[in-house]
Amino acid sequence: MCGIVAYVGQQEALPIIIKGLKRLEYRGYDSAGIALLNSDGLSVYKKKGKVSELENHLNGFSNLESKIGIGHTRWATHGEPNDVNAHPHYSSSEKFAMIHNGIIENYDVLKKDLMNKGYQFQSETDSEVFIKFIEDIYVNNHISLEEAVRLALHKVVGAYAIVIMNIEEPDTLIAARKGSPLVIGVGEKEYFLASDATPIIEYTNQVVYLDDYEIAVIRDNKLQIKTIENVETNPYINQLEMELEAIEKGGYEHFMLKEINEQPRSIADCMRGRLDAKNGRLVLGGLRDYMNKFQNADRIIITACGTSWHAGLVAEYLFEEFARIPVEVEYASEFRYRNPVISEKDFVIAISQSGETADTLAAIELAKSKGATIFGVCNVVGSSIPRATHAGSYTHAGPEIGVASTKAFTAQISVLTMMALKLGYQRGTLSESRYMQLLGELETIPSKVERALKLNDKVKEIAAAYKDSRNFLYLGRGYNFPVALEGALKLKEISYIHAEGYPAAEMKHGPIALIDEEMPVVFIATKDSSYEKVVSNIQEVKARKGKIIAVVTEGDTTVKHMADHVIEIPETEEAFVPLVAVVPLQQLSYHIAVMRGCNVDQPRNLAKSVTVE
Ligand code: M6R
Repeated sequence: MCGIVAYVGQQEALPIIIKGLKRLEYRGYDSAGIALLNSDGLSVYKKKGKVSELENHLNGFSNLESKIGIGHTRWATHGEPNDVNAHPHYSSSEKFAMIHNGIIENYDVLKKDLMNKGYQFQSETDSEVFIKFIEDIYVNNHISLEEAVRLALHKVVGAYAIVIMNIEEPDTLIAARKGSPLVIGVGEKEYFLASDATPIIEYTNQVVYLDDYEIAVIRDNKLQIKTIENVETNPYINQLEMELEAIEKGGYEHFMLKEINEQPRSIADCMRGRLDAKNGRLVLGGLRDYMNKFQNADRIIITACGTSWHAGLVAEYLFEEFARIPVEVEYASEFRYRNPVISEKDFVIAISQSGETADTLAAIELAKSKGATIFGVCNVVGSSIPRATHAGSYTHAGPEIGVASTKAFTAQISVLTMMALKLGYQRGTLSESRYMQLLGELETIPSKVERALKLNDKVKEIAAAYKDSRNFLYLGRGYNFPVALEGALKLKEISYIHAEGYPAAEMKHGPIALIDEEMPVVFIATKDSSYEKVVSNIQEVKARKGKIIAVVTEGDTTVKHMADHVIEIPETEEAFVPLVAVVPLQQLSYHIAVMRGCNVDQPRNLAKSVTVE
């Protein structure tokens, strides 16, 4: 949560930071602020609301010229979203200003100590405590700010990515990270710091990913990185491969719509170079060194949050069907605190779009400490999870900016499907002929998703009919149960309509009581091994006057006669249906949210990457 951007160099900092903050708004958008340094001193400007509100606020000021600056877009943790709680925060003397992404868990104790020493606080944030704590160390020990930061980092508990400006060092930025991401862009006599590479990409493709417990000091056009033990490290410069157009809307009204429509390409990109169906080749580079462990694992544990957890549920069906290894799918937030039984014979798969989700990271550390092998399935290259795992495969979906995850979900399932097929083949639980058949079908999925996208107009009509509903139910069985969960999550998070996903057969055990003529029920009723059963469930809803919206296989005639609306998707293997069936559900939630006037890309209370627990 929260996005941070900083700049020091020859250019004007303000436009670079404002543009960068807009790119990072998906990380939090309840307030924004900036600090600049010029002949007027170190000035902080901040405003409740989105970055555009901050821009309007800045219009009322002159002398905003500065070659150095820090900026922040916030997702509130401590203290409500308002101007005062917005970042940057000054130190007491107003000599320093700091932006912070993360949570300082022991801020309360630190704050009490500081208050006893006479410090006063304007905001309710842990971040203001953090910078005042640093200042206290600086003042009392007569040391450099850099040294004070280093000592403070030994005392704070929690997660942080911080950048600090100092009125006395107008060419210096001090940054540090633990648990929250920080990327440093290295330009020609200029440096850019940000929570991810999107604010940096148009200026330079050379970046350094700061590691946990590292402090970066940019002074006089030089970057120096030290550990918090004061040991200098050699910054490793990575080349970014991201294209600028990938982070722009490209003519679409919303990022979410663009990302839904990108799926044929993102799924193909995910399979490119890995799947060659004609020659029966399936290569996942990240698995190569760990195939033996994977094949001989006693158990596969999948851990993730939100949509990534839904992808994990699909993978449970895939691994058990094709590779016959028992699978458990765990919410990372529960797993990390449950004292789970884990051994070296477990193969743990952590799934995350952002690669920064705090609970998933903690679950990884726990499983690692018990000796399990950890494999990451992530989208954001260079993020924390790929660096915390033993091995992994990137999903290559490209940047996903809409807060509601769409193309990342189908790319995650694509990677997990390839892993399950590979594993099944290697273990001999999948015959050569079936393996070849499945590889061939998998290769057709991008074109089937392309066809599913053409259902848009029909889906939009359905959206118009149900946009004012107060509740929705989503039901599916087998592989389509996680799709039902995902459909419900998409709807609730962007349209604020209450929606629940259930295994269709569970309906009788409670949710059926909700059904009346006001209740739309979305069935995923494709022609598969549980089709007949789902048809019976549809009858049960119909008998209670529920409104039925059914996602069916092209050419289905049975459900057509029962449902109020049918959405026909191309036929595919049962195991691959989630990749296609989820598409009209994404479109349905998108159109309903737009019709209800909701902010589709930045729904209320949410942030794209949840870097706090
Ligand atoms: O970046 P991650 O995949 O680890 O994020 C997990 C969830 O926070 C995420 O999927 C969330 O549920 C999305 N808003 C769903 O659309």
